Amino acid sequence: MKKYWRGWGKSRLRREKVSWREEAKKRVALEAVEHINDGFIVGLGSGSTTAYAIQEIGEKIQLEGLRIKGVPTSHQAMMLAVHCGVPLATLNEHPQLDLAIDGADQIDRELNLIKGRGGALTREKIVASAAKQLVIVADETKLAERLGTNQAIPIEVLPFALPTVIARMRELDGQPVLREGQGKVGPLVTDNGNFVVDVDFGPLDDAKELNVKLKLISGVIETGLFVGMADTVYLGKPEGIEKLVKD
Ligand code: A5P
Repeated sequence: MKKYWRGWGKSRLRREKVSWREEAKKRVALEAVEHINDGFIVGLGSGSTTAYAIQEIGEKIQLEGLRIKGVPTSHQAMMLAVHCGVPLATLNEHPQLDLAIDGADQIDRELNLIKGRGGALTREKIVASAAKQLVIVADETKLAERLGTNQAIPIEVLPFALPTVIARMRELDGQPVLREGQGKVGPLVTDNGNFVVDVDFGPLDDAKELNVKLKLISGVIETGLFVGMADTVYLGKPEGIEKLVKD
């Protein structure tokens, strides 16, 4: 099937200049796919690193005849899965998934994450929480001593509630910025029809506590703080792969 959209996917990946980061992303994606067994229902994350995993799953299905189905976390993941020949499934059919593979924007050594640069954080968190195992793939530039260091936290917000949510973020000493769309005027609109506010809180002392406070604000749909959710992280480096495992 000819691809008719632009974005993270096969043709763009081929065009990209191959840097160590791109190679590292590919290697960790292949490593994550090794977690998949025949018959698995797999959560398909969003972003450029997971895109390599989706391609690999598609190849395994074609070449080895594995019976794998994917639950996509975004339109991007869904379209790429279809393009790569990965059969789709839904949470209606499979409320519990065997595994989810996803990327991250920032990772600490306790395997807590910031996600949502692609605006897919809500479905990513739902799919991650439905999975028995969450495997994260990223290059080593995503590792940070403390989450929030030079990294804002994406928060999906119901448009109606935007002004009050912005005010609450400021009360929590955050600096909120409404994310602008690209290729459209005005705010970015998520796959769920909501806005994303990127809030800079600086380096976090307690990601779990902040996540709870944010989730209690009316109008906050979801936060990009994934605390205690990841089981395994593969970090791609120029010289190889580092594997981090939950204690
Ligand atoms: C999507 O909303 C994000 O959570 C992505 O998973 C994250 O931004 C990682 O993307 P890359 O693999 O492209 O860095």
